[in-house]
Amino acid sequence: MQETSIILNRLRKNLKIRKNLIKSEGIEAYRLYEKDIPEYPYIIDIYKDYAVIYEKGKKIGEDDELNDLVYEHRTDIFAALGELLNIPENKIHLKERVKQSGKQQYEKIAKDKLSFAVKEGEMKFKVNLEDYLDTGLFLEHRPLRKIINQTSASKKVLNLFAYTGSFSVAAALGGGVVTTVDMSRTYLDWARDNFRINDITIKDHHFTQADAVNYIMNLVEKFDIIILDPPSFSNSKRMEDIFDVQRDHITLIEKLMSLLNPEGVLYFSNNLRSFKLDFLIREGFKIEDLTYKSIPKDFRDQKIHQCYKITQK
Ligand SMILES: C[S@@+](CC[C@H](N)C(=O)[O-])C[C@H]1O[C@@H](n2cnc3c(N)ncnc32)[C@H](O)[C@@H]1O
Repeated sequence: MQETSIILNRLRKNLKIRKNLIKSEGIEAYRLYEKDIPEYPYIIDIYKDYAVIYEKGKKIGEDDELNDLVYEHRTDIFAALGELLNIPENKIHLKERVKQSGKQQYEKIAKDKLSFAVKEGEMKFKVNLEDYLDTGLFLEHRPLRKIINQTSASKKVLNLFAYTGSFSVAAALGGGVVTTVDMSRTYLDWARDNFRINDITIKDHHFTQADAVNYIMNLVEKFDIIILDPPSFSNSKRMEDIFDVQRDHITLIEKLMSLLNPEGVLYFSNNLRSFKLDFLIREGFKIEDLTYKSIPKDFRDQKIHQCYKITQK
């Protein structure tokens, strides 16, 4: 009871703080809680009237005591989400790390719905909270989506490693013509779905299933805005070589800068905590560090990504 009130009180307090952001940005998806209390090392994201709980902070193990504690915490959090946001258990999705065993086997609750759309200002994004590790929408990139949305009018935009095309939607709704590139057919289809739910005419834009590195090496076409938000590492069968952002960003950025029109802008973001922008890039181009500006107010983790606006000197 005592424990329940600790997390309940914190979630209530956070929700009160989030209210302004939810209203001013017109958002339905946000981070409610991020390891604020050390004893509760979880992340809780809200997607409309659903929640996702990431149990990342916990060690996977056979440790029964630890598992018991996690189950106790889960019950507390479920109760708090029910009380504060009216979210029932079948709308809470767990991304769990704890090994399930014996009596602690948690019953898998049949989930309410597979995918649905959430609003972010004028934009809508399809999310799926259950079937993949990620939900289809990276909440951490909300500020950069806004920047892109507000600067894309009449621009030619290239979105590389596009995932479900959330930056592409931002650019297309902002008035740009967008080329969306990803290696995965599933995610490209998802990106097209995102265009459709935003009433964007698909045939006005381009979708390419390709290894982004290979794809750009053969490109000659010029763009006004390029978005480069690659994974830290990638080694799919469809690629000739593994991708390593620390190793490969120099070649990639140099090539992409040559594909920009004179006033063009490259937005480069990545999630590698140890990432260092190479001095050749710092020397060769004008760099604006957008990291702080591009981390949403509802995130506590100030190292979730590093983001740079790169232009010609
Ligand atoms: C880190 S996410 C990109 C996040 C995205 N920019 C967003 O904000 O929604 C990784 C994406 O890169 C794609 N990917 C990984 N390696 C790739 C490659 N070599 N070429 C093209 N896409 C790749 C994956 O399919 C996945 O969709």
